[in-house]
Amino acid sequence: MKYLTIALTKGRLAGKTMKLLAQAGIECKEMQDPETRKLIFTDEKNRLKFFLAKGQDVPTYVEYGAADLGVTGEDTILEENRRVYEVLDLGFGKCRMCVAGPAQAAGLLRHKEQITVATKYPRIARDYFHNRKNQTVEIIKLNGSVELAPIVGLSDVICDIVETGTTLKENGLIVLEEVCPLSARVIVNPVSMRMENERISCLLRSMNDIIEK
Ligand code: PRP
Repeated sequence: MKYLTIALTKGRLAGKTMKLLAQAGIECKEMQDPETRKLIFTDEKNRLKFFLAKGQDVPTYVEYGAADLGVTGEDTILEENRRVYEVLDLGFGKCRMCVAGPAQAAGLLRHKEQITVATKYPRIARDYFHNRKNQTVEIIKLNGSVELAPIVGLSDVICDIVETGTTLKENGLIVLEEVCPLSARVIVNPVSMRMENERISCLLRSMNDIIEK
């Protein structure tokens, strides 16, 4: 039997995904070694391979078929906009995509002023402001610590993930608008979905059963 390959997002999401799979009877012993620097692991019993990638790259591996399935955040899936099927909401990794900034920026949003928006998610931000709000904005792409931007005067607001809200609070910023709720999702390569439909459906069903329990 051919291996099914699953791309996981390195870090907390991978841990939570493997915990869920363990409940469904799928365990990958070599992945449990906390010291390991390996990136790819095999579960011979179930003919599965798992590999750890950066979240942003998971949709790429799945689109090209290097992985049959992938697990990553809805934020990454929306931003990458790859040709993949989104098939299951895992219900963990919950957070929100928000427009945030200093309280004074609320007026700029209300009056649809031409503002600058710093973000790691230019596609999501552009779609939100241009298509949903019909507001002209300048998007400035950053790669992290986006909360800095309005504090140091790079942008008026940010469009970023809010989980606990601590980062905003500790930097004197607030949520101004909510763009969408987010959580971890399973994505599938469209060709794999067709060729390995039975195995993939069975895997998704057992994951879904655990989630719904
Ligand atoms: C994310 C996000 C926020 C923070 C939100 O950043 O971009 O900065 O977490 O979490 P909170 O609401 O619980 O404070 P991440 O930790 O991924 O780091 P980065 O900004 O450097 O990418």
